[in-house]
Amino acid sequence: MTQSAVAVVILAAGKGTRMKSDLPKVLHPLAGRPMIRHVLDAVATLSPARVVVVVGPEQQSVAAAVAPVPVAVQTRQLGTADAVRAASDSLAGFAGEVLVLYGDTPLLTPETLARMVEARRAADDPAVVVLGFRPADPGAYGRLIVNAAGTLEKIVEHLDASPAERAVGLCNAGLMAFDGRRMFELLDHIDANNAKGEYYLTDAVGLARVRGYACTVVEAPESEVMGVNCRAELAEAEQQIQKRLRRAAMDNGATLTDPDTTYFALDTRLGRDVTVGPGVVFAPGVTVADRVEIKAFCHLEGATVAEGATIGPYARLRPGAVIGPGAHVGNFVEIKNGTLEAGAKVNHLTYIGDASIGARANIGAGTITCNYDGFAKSRTVIGAGAFIGSNSSLVAPVHIGAGAIIGAGSVVVKDVEPDALTVARGRQQNYIGWAAKFRSEKKK
Ligand code: UD1
Ligand code: CA
Repeated sequence: MTQSAVAVVILAAGKGTRMKSDLPKVLHPLAGRPMIRHVLDAVATLSPARVVVVVGPEQQSVAAAVAPVPVAVQTRQLGTADAVRAASDSLAGFAGEVLVLYGDTPLLTPETLARMVEARRAADDPAVVVLGFRPADPGAYGRLIVNAAGTLEKIVEHLDASPAERAVGLCNAGLMAFDGRRMFELLDHIDANNAKGEYYLTDAVGLARVRGYACTVVEAPESEVMGVNCRAELAEAEQQIQKRLRRAAMDNGATLTDPDTTYFALDTRLGRDVTVGPGVVFAPGVTVADRVEIKAFCHLEGATVAEGATIGPYARLRPGAVIGPGAHVGNFVEIKNGTLEAGAKVNHLTYIGDASIGARANIGAGTITCNYDGFAKSRTVIGAGAFIGSNSSLVAPVHIGAGAIIGAGSVVVKDVEPDALTVARGRQQNYIGWAAKFRSEKKK
């Protein structure tokens, strides 16, 4: 038997009022990526034949964030069943499994999605498979009403539930898998006769049972199905994702000295035997090769670190920082759009911007590349083995030749030949006895 295809509808037309934000809820980032992209990433593992995101009117920013996945617009927010109907054009004639997910439930795992699809294809041929969970506090969730034989009979929304139904601990996570051939038949019969006056997707279960179709429940842990409705839940979801990312980093051979204080982006890549000290933040776009040590309190974003390099403590690598093998970046050093070749050292209190630094060059404490004149950025190029004395300012555009030495405190405005010595500062004068004479004159 050939396996039927999977289509996915992601509901994201809700206003997200409780976020109190100008940004649509599903665009709030988790681990550096918009919430809805987490859902799309999980969905992608199913290789679905069709995916469509249901958005509200004037949510072009959501459409842009999910592209090239298409959107369907739900003009008025009449409930979750109405939202799925808004996607009907995209699903016309689809006879496989239709998964309905929420854009604000970002912690779902590919494994759970696969279990839902599998349950839909099981021998009892259910019309609807519902993802259930048993929250510590069932609160306002819809309740799953299961009969003595273990069959799912209906879903009752909290507002519409009797006290006995509210006592049920098994709740609706919101995720459902439909048989595409029967889905619209069920949706067509859903009305808005309920406490909220909305078209509830959850009514599809009761309607299916009336028609004699089977309905089943797949259970998932609460941590996976939590919805994000407010900033506190956003923070909770971030913690859950960080927990997973920390665990994955350690499973892949990185040492995290204090995992609870390490923050990853979803796309962070760490090699083997990487050591990460306390308080390190990986913003998006960071790749770290094997045997790198990142000491405490560093912030990295859009940076690439080659094997055996040492970073920090207290270093900041900004976008375009490329750190070569065995290079050292020390405390209070900021590097932006700058390359350090193998074995180069920038150990203390330095700003490197729009620069390339040759192999084994040594950049002294307090060196600043002056890359910006208020209008344009210019590059500094430092050759292999050059030595830049402490507290030098390199005024770009400028080239320092390989092997050159720059005297401490220099302000370098002209190119320096390879192997030259440059001293570009006021010449020192010593006036013997001057200070003593000065003091004795003042005492008179
Ligand atoms: C829904 C379920 C409830 C379940 C809970 C889990 C229904 C009727 N109830 O309730 O059983 O326990 O989720 O979190 O389905 N949306 C639209 N258009 C609409 C309405 C909603 O796109 O017209 C989207 C929202 O953006 C959101 C999702 O659907 O992503 C869920 O809507 P929401 O109003 O939060 O449903 P709940 O009342 O939480
Ligand atoms: Ca909700």
